Amino acid sequence: MINQMNPSADVTALSSIFVDVSAVEVGTQLTVKWRGKPVFIRRRNQEDIDLGRSIPLTDLRDTNAENANLDPGATAEDANRTLDEAGEWLVMMGVCTHLGCVPLGDSGDFGGWFCPCHGSHYDSAGRIRKGPAPRNLDIPVAAFFDETTIKLG
Ligand code: FES
Repeated sequence: MINQMNPSADVTALSSIFVDVSAVEVGTQLTVKWRGKPVFIRRRNQEDIDLGRSIPLTDLRDTNAENANLDPGATAEDANRTLDEAGEWLVMMGVCTHLGCVPLGDSGDFGGWFCPCHGSHYDSAGRIRKGPAPRNLDIPVAAFFDETTIKLG
């Protein structure tokens, strides 16, 4: 009886996915679906990185990294949002933290994403800067599996 309630092998396999990012150009974004939700995989250009790193924590509404790969108390510096030390790769749930719409890339007042549903602006590190959303875009469990593959989950 209990065993029947455990996820079947194929469901378990779906909980992690491997994404080939070899074709993602600098300054562009790939959106994949994972666990029924969009995930943004952004390859940031130098301007995105410089902009994200220039923002002091005191300018942020949500000072938590919201990064499932770090300790829960990690703060939202740009370096705590990206997957790699150089700050090029940003992997985030494409789900607005207000009411769950999908924000638009290359949009908004802060060089990042804009959610048109009620006007939330996120910066180049996916941090909420203006509008009703309460939190930064969530960063899921993610890691480089090899040089050109990101594992989600
Ligand atoms: S759902 Fe994004 S601003 Fe409301």
